Amino acid sequence: MRYGALHVFKDVSLTVGRREIVSIVGPSGCGKTTLLRCLDGLIPMSEGVVLFDGAEVKGPPPKMAMVFQHFGLFPWKTVRGNVSYGLAMQGASRAEIATRVPEVIRLVGLEGFEEAYPYQLSGGMQQRCGLARALAVDPDVLLLDEPFAAIDAQTREILQFELLRIFGLRPTAMVFVTHSIEEAVLMGDRVVVLKGKPSSVAEVVEVTLPRPRTRDTLASPRFAELREHVWKTLMDEARRAEFRLGGPS
Ligand SMILES: Nc1ncnc2c1ncn2[C@@H]1O[C@H](COP(=O)(O)OP(=O)(O)OP(=O)(O)O)[C@@H](O)[C@H]1O
Ligand SMILES: [Mg+2]
Repeated sequence: MRYGALHVFKDVSLTVGRREIVSIVGPSGCGKTTLLRCLDGLIPMSEGVVLFDGAEVKGPPPKMAMVFQHFGLFPWKTVRGNVSYGLAMQGASRAEIATRVPEVIRLVGLEGFEEAYPYQLSGGMQQRCGLARALAVDPDVLLLDEPFAAIDAQTREILQFELLRIFGLRPTAMVFVTHSIEEAVLMGDRVVVLKGKPSSVAEVVEVTLPRPRTRDTLASPRFAELREHVWKTLMDEARRAEFRLGGPS
């Protein structure tokens, strides 16, 4: 993928299973958001293809949904309006919207706030709303761009386990971009480490931790080993980047 003269990433080859969470970590600017946009068909890649169920992705597929870092809610729409939006865009009938929207609002724990506007919600509630909007279309693929980065630590942990619970209810392929190594290991079946300039896949770490994952997972020795492993792979790159910025080139 290139933006003009800027070569963002190359040789990225990934397969995501139907019921699998693939976490993506990498230094700021390595192209994680760009990769998600390519997967969703929002921007064309300079070379290569994205296949979804064997068909080439050329625009956002109806069964793919994105959750944005800064929630991406319409400020002039209520919770109900925001959650209905994707469905309405896909041409769902009024009856379908009327049954599906309350279901997902309940799923993310926002019942009672249907008529609230985003400014009346806390950050955590806004992100629940963003999640509900994505889940409303019953996606087979969920792309998440640092979904919990702007949320306080306690709410973040609650939402992580809530997303894992929802994942347990309905098999979904998820690509989960995060800056948090702990989060990448906790959520993922695999952690893909992107690095280099242009970046490429430096390592794919298999997360051999049983599901369902719980708070106990965070305390397990295997979790600590995996976290250290990913951390070392990443920090090696971060140190070199720092040197490039500060020292002679
Ligand atoms: N629309 C664009 N036009 C030109 N360059 C862009 C565009 N979007 C992103 N870039 C550049 O591409 C590179 C990758 O950006 P991207 O936002 O994908 O990184 P990222 O890994 O998501 O970073 P972060 O972790 O900070 O969110 C950056 O150097 C950025 O400046
Ligand atoms: Mg980004």
